[in-house]
Amino acid sequence: MKVKLASNYGFCFGVKRAIKIAEDYKNSSTMGPLIHNQDEINRLRNDFNVGLYTNLSDVKDHDTVIIRTHGIPKDDLKNLRAQKAKIINATCPFVTTPQQIVKKMSKEGYSILIFGDADHPEVKGVQSYGEDQNDVHIILEPSDIENLVFKNNKIATVAQTTKKKEKYLEIVNALILKNKEVRVFNTICDATFENQDAARDLSKEVDVMIVIGGKNSSNTKQLHSICLENCADSYLIENETELQNSWFLNKKLCGITAGASTPDWIIQQVVEKVESQN
Ligand code: F3S
Repeated sequence: MKVKLASNYGFCFGVKRAIKIAEDYKNSSTMGPLIHNQDEINRLRNDFNVGLYTNLSDVKDHDTVIIRTHGIPKDDLKNLRAQKAKIINATCPFVTTPQQIVKKMSKEGYSILIFGDADHPEVKGVQSYGEDQNDVHIILEPSDIENLVFKNNKIATVAQTTKKKEKYLEIVNALILKNKEVRVFNTICDATFENQDAARDLSKEVDVMIVIGGKNSSNTKQLHSICLENCADSYLIENETELQNSWFLNKKLCGITAGASTPDWIIQQVVEKVESQN
């Protein structure tokens, strides 16, 4: 099977940075999974003895704690400080930005609107920086605006870094139609666009498309949905063991892309196994 890689794929700046930090602080532990990739987390544990706290009560006084790429809620950070933990912040700077915007704008009396998944750790962290939690609203669809009641007559919006800009624009348009003052911050990350654009282009020219990444990674799921728009035979896998021979029957060209948290060594293993298909 012939393989063609997307012109942009895999690790983004924020993930590379977080992994480097974890490698530099071997024998420490991360608060929540460092990135959305179990294989890479296993590698860090096996090769660098980087552990994982599942909740704050696991942290002992003076432990070294690495904050994950997606950040943590403000109060969790405060509690870690109170425990005198040594805090190493691997939060991606592009995630810190919306946190700081929400903090600043809500202090200035703006209601906050976040375009994102309410259950995503990044969004939970960003949300926590709002002064009045009852006036921080999280939505996924423009139609969700109908049901919102803002406490202030001025609104500031941020987006989860991995969201689609087209949808964000729809939300912003709907907001402007109903409100006098809307401050819009484009907090969507370029790394996501670049991988998405490359995946879109490649999925138009191949017979089968493989997207590699964590199944709980919103970034990877979005790449998969973009590929499905152009190539019905698009599959999302975490590693080469999930490849199925039937996907490649009567196919000539396989496109491969990978989410922003997928390490090169996993991509390489997938490429080799796909190339070995008849
Ligand atoms: Fe950061 Fe963007 Fe990656 S927000 S973690 S550089 S996808």
